[in-house]
Amino acid sequence: MIRRRTFLAASAALPFLAARARAQMAVPKLPADFVWGASTSCFQIEGAVREGGRADSIWDVFAREPGRIADGTNADVAADHYHRYPEDVDLLAAGHFRAYRFSTAWPRIVPEGTGPVNPAGLDFYDRLVDQLLEKGVQPWACLYHWDLPQALQQRGGWHNRDIAGWFADYAQATVGRLGDRVKHWAMLNEPSVHAIFGHAVGNHAPGLTGWPSYLKAQHHQNLAQGTAIAALRAQKPDLVLGTVFSLQPVLPSTDKPEDAAAAQRFDAAWNTNNLDPLFKGIYPAAYADQFAPLIKGDDMARIKVAVDFLGVNYYGRAHVVNDPDSVLAQAGWGPQPPGTRTTAMGWPIEPQGLVEVMRRLRDEYANPPAFIMENGACFDDPPPRNGVVDDPERAAFIRQHIIACRAAVDEGCALRGYFVWSLLDNFEWAEGLRRRFGIVHVDFATLKRTPKESYRFLAEVMKPG
Ligand code: FCB
Repeated sequence: MIRRRTFLAASAALPFLAARARAQMAVPKLPADFVWGASTSCFQIEGAVREGGRADSIWDVFAREPGRIADGTNADVAADHYHRYPEDVDLLAAGHFRAYRFSTAWPRIVPEGTGPVNPAGLDFYDRLVDQLLEKGVQPWACLYHWDLPQALQQRGGWHNRDIAGWFADYAQATVGRLGDRVKHWAMLNEPSVHAIFGHAVGNHAPGLTGWPSYLKAQHHQNLAQGTAIAALRAQKPDLVLGTVFSLQPVLPSTDKPEDAAAAQRFDAAWNTNNLDPLFKGIYPAAYADQFAPLIKGDDMARIKVAVDFLGVNYYGRAHVVNDPDSVLAQAGWGPQPPGTRTTAMGWPIEPQGLVEVMRRLRDEYANPPAFIMENGACFDDPPPRNGVVDDPERAAFIRQHIIACRAAVDEGCALRGYFVWSLLDNFEWAEGLRRRFGIVHVDFATLKRTPKESYRFLAEVMKPG
């Protein structure tokens, strides 16, 4: 059944386009209990980095180093969500979002990483959660989206296996304050991506390099994830607990055997070094020997814990080639198939890959309840004109991926929801403020919000009834 509600909420402004746009933007219906949401992360939107007792995170320090951020910006103000959250919650409510995934900042809540909890840091999330509930939006919290307290980096950060306990303590303190109202908790955001870019390639905070560094960061994140889930289950058995992985089908760019082998290594580094430990209690063959020296005692049993859901961030497939000089699995990004369209990040637009990822979870990982927890696109949007930001490519991108969600559901995949990345234009890590993923435009000089046409499109799709 096709739902024919559409896009042109702005059709009043463009009535002559309405009929064509309506046909082009139709989306299939998803189950009535399908969760529609939007995602953000604290460091990328909050700003207020020196307010309310917050201490530096590794990203504050990294962004201060000359040359690290492509456009020379930082996240000191970002979208100023810390002060403007009521307006942002109103945007969620007006857009018919049923759920909102945000992350909590470890350096706000436990500024030194371990030790005293900062009540003022928790107060902010307390206000945010109350505001969301008051407006009928379900809060989903993620405990770690890459902003480690700098104080912990000085103690080895993700290289120090004690971090499993540090993270569990912070998680328990956060849940202790918010867990009466926030039921859905994700532990980590994209641990493999954090391990790869932050700890092997070095173009993300904390800027560490080398493959041994990757292995430690990956294993200790897996361990922290399992340790925190067990601790939170014991603390509050009614919570809905999960974690968030970036998953992408990995394909060799050519039919050369060495590229096929590179694709297998890349797949392990990106996908299965997360999936196999969590769901099977093992590391994939490609790296099992390399992880072995890091595995102590019952680590693997602590990592293989039952999750209530898996968050999946999906942006596109990875097309790779063999590259012996590459620190990332001795593989590099290779040519995409001819004719592949890309976003402004150069990422391929491949909605079918979402279905492939979901099939893999169904067939190889016992079909865990899953939510697309991030999906979206960066395009060079025009600036607002008369209160309108016309971003047809983003709206089309989102629509194609909703169609893919429906295909996955039809194939029996346990896909239960879709969260768009991102509610707001924000600080896109090493790219800075120049890369816009929001469905709401943010003018970083005035901080004014302007919903884009993609927001209006999604609002129509999600409108109940
Ligand atoms: C994901 C990150 C998110 C954002 C998007 C574009 O890998 O989780 O913070 O940067 O990419």
